[in-house]
Amino acid sequence: TAPGLAPTPPMGWNDWAHYQCGVTERTVTANADALVSSGLAAKGYTTVTVDDCWTTKTRDADGNLVADPVKFPHGMAWLGSYLHARGLRFGIYEDAGSYTCGGYPGSGRPQGGGADHFAQDAAAFASWGVDYLKLDGCNVYVAPGQTQEQAYRQAYDAQAAALRGSGRDIVFSESAPAYFQSGEWGNPTWFDVLSWVGSDGQLWREGWDIATYDPARPTASRWSSVLANYGYNRWIGRYAAPGNWNDPDFLIAGAGGLTEDESRSQVALWSMMAAPLILSSDVSALTPAARSALGNTELIKVDQDSLGRQAGVVSTDGGTDVLARPLAGGDRAVAVLNRGATARTLTTALADVGLPGCTVAAKDLWTGATSSVSGGLTATVPAHGTAIWRLTPGSGCGPAVPAGQLTGNG
Ligand code: GLA
Repeated sequence: TAPGLAPTPPMGWNDWAHYQCGVTERTVTANADALVSSGLAAKGYTTVTVDDCWTTKTRDADGNLVADPVKFPHGMAWLGSYLHARGLRFGIYEDAGSYTCGGYPGSGRPQGGGADHFAQDAAAFASWGVDYLKLDGCNVYVAPGQTQEQAYRQAYDAQAAALRGSGRDIVFSESAPAYFQSGEWGNPTWFDVLSWVGSDGQLWREGWDIATYDPARPTASRWSSVLANYGYNRWIGRYAAPGNWNDPDFLIAGAGGLTEDESRSQVALWSMMAAPLILSSDVSALTPAARSALGNTELIKVDQDSLGRQAGVVSTDGGTDVLARPLAGGDRAVAVLNRGATARTLTTALADVGLPGCTVAAKDLWTGATSSVSGGLTATVPAHGTAIWRLTPGSGCGPAVPAGQLTGNG
């Protein structure tokens, strides 16, 4: 699709990982208000999405979706106006199958065949002021003689056409690839799906759900979930470009389950990967450290860089990952993840990130301090932490290594 609808990765908030089906109008308005009052909205976190479980269990007599009158007493058009009045954008969730993952009416064909509701639902969304649709992929009907991939493609193509026909610009987030992902290294069909979703929408969930918050065990670690989603997303940079973004699922910084350094790492790694920055936590309860990581304007600038290149993996082993990302104007972002359980002092040769024999101005994006560096970048990286720099090439730097050599792994 044209980059126009999402020239840079979408940013915002979604209820799912924190509230699941407990979402209500009040949850959404309170978090929207907190995005504004915390300053995160002004930093770009503007798309507020209501995830699954917002409808009644059945459509009305005319086949229309009905907002749950208990959870959303004022209805969805009211919610859209509430968000728009605060400079926010309105996102909503539906599903390409007969039912959503939570068992609510889907937009797709019923099991056994029959008419879908893509156009009808898209018209409703447009009338409510919806700006962003997350279309999940549970319960997609596979017709006789169709492959599973063909059934998904038919459904996502149909939804894309319905959105185009809705008369409103609605960013389209597709979950199709997530239903074909298996393991960190993917499989042939997963890559096939990744190669067509960009013609229908602007971003796509490509794998597992990030671990949800459990109020009964608020500190239960979710770091392995962050590492897992990072783990496969880092290889599929070749599918990212302005208007087309790999989505490794929500940021959960500050919601419990991550240390401060782990929260910082997630924001840094997601920014390196040009990932959508969609926070799913209680915004009013963010720790100061999490709020400052999420609102780090230097990281956001990397994430939102207009070149739109996802970082490539320069090196990876059991202990350390080095990522590099070309940026518009010739700068380069470099990140070093310490997977270890203790702090380590790590050095990354500039030659290894495409800058041999070169002196750079290296800005540490956590401290904001800039220093002149040649040879190697050195940092003491805390346990599960990530060092991240913006490098501006200076003297002795040869012609930039073509961006394609630093990205597109996989
Ligand atoms: C799937 C998605 C989640 C969320 C739930 C809702 O699991 O991947 O992000 O939308 O469905 O039921």
